[in-house]
Amino acid sequence: MQPDEFRRLGYQVIDMIADYRATIAQRPVWSQLRPGELRSQLPAHPPEHPEPAAAILADIERLIIPGLSNWQHPRFFGYFPANASLASLLGDMLSGGLGQLGLNWQASPPLTELEELTTDWMRQLIGLSEMWRGVIQDTASTSTLVALLCARERATDHCQVRGGLQALPAPLVVYTSTQSHSSVEKAVLLAGFGRDNLRLIPVDDQFAMRVDALEAAIAADRAAGRVPCAVVASIGATATTACDPLEPIGALCQREGIWLHVDAAMAGSAMILPECRQLWQGIEQADSLVLNPHKWLGAAFDCSLYYVRDPQHLIRVMSTNPSYLQTGADGTVTNYRDWGIPLGRRFRALKLYFLLRCEGAEGLRVRLRRDLANARWLAAQVDATPPWRRLAPVPLQTVCVRHEPPGLTDEALDQHTLRWVGMINAGGAAYLTPAVLDGRWMVRVSIGAEPTEHADVVALWELMQATATCVAA
Ligand SMILES: Cc1ncc(COP(=O)(O)O)c(C=O)c1O
Repeated sequence: MQPDEFRRLGYQVIDMIADYRATIAQRPVWSQLRPGELRSQLPAHPPEHPEPAAAILADIERLIIPGLSNWQHPRFFGYFPANASLASLLGDMLSGGLGQLGLNWQASPPLTELEELTTDWMRQLIGLSEMWRGVIQDTASTSTLVALLCARERATDHCQVRGGLQALPAPLVVYTSTQSHSSVEKAVLLAGFGRDNLRLIPVDDQFAMRVDALEAAIAADRAAGRVPCAVVASIGATATTACDPLEPIGALCQREGIWLHVDAAMAGSAMILPECRQLWQGIEQADSLVLNPHKWLGAAFDCSLYYVRDPQHLIRVMSTNPSYLQTGADGTVTNYRDWGIPLGRRFRALKLYFLLRCEGAEGLRVRLRRDLANARWLAAQVDATPPWRRLAPVPLQTVCVRHEPPGLTDEALDQHTLRWVGMINAGGAAYLTPAVLDGRWMVRVSIGAEPTEHADVVALWELMQATATCVAA
């Protein structure tokens, strides 16, 4: 494809995206496709000859777009906000179009320096001290894996350059709460700690990690000859957005010489609001942290920020330095290949750059405050309307609820919950995520899609009441 043809078709693709976003509220929120339905309408074998782009675009319009789950819909209240703001999309499209590959600084100086700049802008916006340096990873799962690899290497004086984990005399142990995201368990497994050496620490009635239980678990492991290695604390745990108490956890980790990694994947965006920062008070005692601007903040997926206090340690763990990647600039520049797992690096910083410049910090703060106010409003309605029950505090934008008609308990209550939420989700007018909390199904209302206004939350609350009452009848 030559640039002129790209220009012509590119405008059509932009029109398609703009039309999709402009009409999204008229679509069902969640995909109505059955498994395999799309596949059955597409050719089983790859095209042997070139096809006209018009035919491809027509297929996208006819088959792909109608089957989408519409995460950018104003009535999307599922999982977590995954805002792909159109401002950030401009940067994402440029990233692909400019075709940069940041193997080292020299391979694309602007890619590296814009990443240094935007991660530092974000550091300032979320109120971290100058001790922190950041890098853009693909996801929080990767960032947490990198954190645990760094923790492992610090605890073992770099066992990876000798016999690795297999040569250690005693097992290393990782601690996290029962409420932490599954990516923590996955990172523990992938980093070679083994499930036997993962401690799931119980939580208090606010779903935050119990520091007394953490302390006891660490002491028990030491007494048994095991080596406490890392604590992963959650700021904004997935089910309820609970926040672990970082101040006492950080103090404990420092006393014990344990790596503290903070998973603020979802809630980290809220730290651009000074009034939210008490939620992660003590953050400066951590060794590493992750937050995902590709969630609530609005950077198009994927854009996960990983911050560390000791970049030299990270570089030592991640660096390989083969001759073909060495350049004369090494030693004076940042080579981000040594800050994570992949060698190749996309120009992801562009989407943060566009987001921050187009919206401005104040624009982002206004939007997040709108979402917090909407969550508080919904929480107040739930509190005032029996038999609805709110199941967790609402420090951020997620409200955990259950409709509990008199006489319904245990399995029958679970069935009722799954029925009303299932009806709403199948109807296409809104989308919510059910989840298990304390052994019972409940429903998370996660507010914060970019176009969600107060009227959308009011409409959702009416729909929830009408549907649950009708199911209970
Ligand atoms: C608290 C928390 N941590 C980690 C993750 C995983 O994020 P990612 O998809 O970027 O790996 C999520 C996503 O839901 C999350 O809520």
